[in-house]
Amino acid sequence: MTKPQTAILFVCLGNICRSPLAEGVFRAVVAERGLSDCFVIDSAGTGAWHVGSAPDPRSIAVAARYGVAIEEQQARKVQLEDFDRFDLILGMDRSNVEDLQRLGGPKAAKVHLFMEYALGSRREVPDPYYGGGFEAVYRMIREASETLVDRLAARGSLAPSGQASSTI
Ligand code: 4NP
Repeated sequence: MTKPQTAILFVCLGNICRSPLAEGVFRAVVAERGLSDCFVIDSAGTGAWHVGSAPDPRSIAVAARYGVAIEEQQARKVQLEDFDRFDLILGMDRSNVEDLQRLGGPKAAKVHLFMEYALGSRREVPDPYYGGGFEAVYRMIREASETLVDRLAARGSLAPSGQASSTI
């Protein structure tokens, strides 16, 4: 029997700054906890401008400073099928969440604001594309990722050794 996995999609506008960082950092945290088999992790953008591009060099650099490699990622646009493939779809800011809700329609119950879902904080992960702030974005994403992995693990909805999982 295949292990039940929790599939999480991180979403921002361009899929070159914030959500590639979230994908890479969340994957790193999961690996640190020995839980890699429990997750499917991906990222996407609501916009199509950067489809096929590697992450922004500033995101690659800040991730690399913390030992996280994200340069192999390729931007893609969110698809309607993502609402079937993923258990959680986490937007970086409210405008991402609104765009996802519009796209997903009745399937949008799995869409949440990342910081709110992970930390109960109403903060958004700010868009650093024009104004910078990649270090702060990295730290927010790191804290939220650690807390979310621990919360999901504590909830017993993960099955690192193949036990049955409950719903999220
Ligand atoms: P991201 O940042 O949504 O975190 O990937 C952005 C990247 C590109 C653009 C805006 C935000 N852009 O306008 O091209």
